Amino acid sequence: MRKRKKVVIANWKMNYDFYETTSFIRNFLKIVFERKINHNKEIIIAPSFPFLHISNQISQGTTLNIAAQNIHHTDKGSYTGEVSSYMLKSIGIQKVILGHSERREFFLEKNNLLFEKIKIALKYNFNIIFCVGESFLERSKNKQFEIVKSQLEETVFRCTSDEVKSFYIAYEPIWAIGTGKTATFEEVQIMHEFIRSLFFDKYGESVSNRIYILYGGSINDLNAKDFFSQKDVDGGLVGNSSLKLDKFLRIVQS
Ligand code: 13P
Repeated sequence: MRKRKKVVIANWKMNYDFYETTSFIRNFLKIVFERKINHNKEIIIAPSFPFLHISNQISQGTTLNIAAQNIHHTDKGSYTGEVSSYMLKSIGIQKVILGHSERREFFLEKNNLLFEKIKIALKYNFNIIFCVGESFLERSKNKQFEIVKSQLEETVFRCTSDEVKSFYIAYEPIWAIGTGKTATFEEVQIMHEFIRSLFFDKYGESVSNRIYILYGGSINDLNAKDFFSQKDVDGGLVGNSSLKLDKFLRIVQS
């Protein structure tokens, strides 16, 4: 079976100005290379739109990748305030987070729209970090598997097996995001195994072995190691704890 490397993604959401972003990335890179802690890992940081270009320039020639947090579902046109994959591609960005529960909740992004975003991202050869996850109410009714399955069926599973090679799936139970509450390691492993089995049923063994499934929701430097050691957890999508350099470094080292 193909061994998957670990992937750690910092989702900075709407945090950090120009100075904070650039100094974090410079310091992070310095320490990562001094301590050689990037071995056999993929590290991605997703800063805000205005700082993607400079962040990408700073990390040129390193193994750090920079991702956008969103894109519009078309490539250009009269959409005041929006940013497209066509624009991001021109500054060298190749990865994007789509389907985050905050986009679903606050910007009313539904699976249909997310599929449009997936299509345009694939057109520009982006890697897509696609988020799924249930609400607290859904979990309390034991509907988490049904919800995650339908989120995938209405989006990612409309892609061909060749296209799904461009995806990382992030399982982020909404009730664990920014709350300090996490799903237990076992609950996360069970969900990840379930997601992998869906990929197996839809695309077969080689895709299901290859697909990266990350966990997100209140990961910190103390619990990261236990999450990352679960069989089907290939890394994490980290919010709050990725904003502190020392914490994020410890998570990467986990
Ligand atoms: P927290 O790590 O702050 O819970 O956020 C998780 C998240 O939403 C990452 O995308």
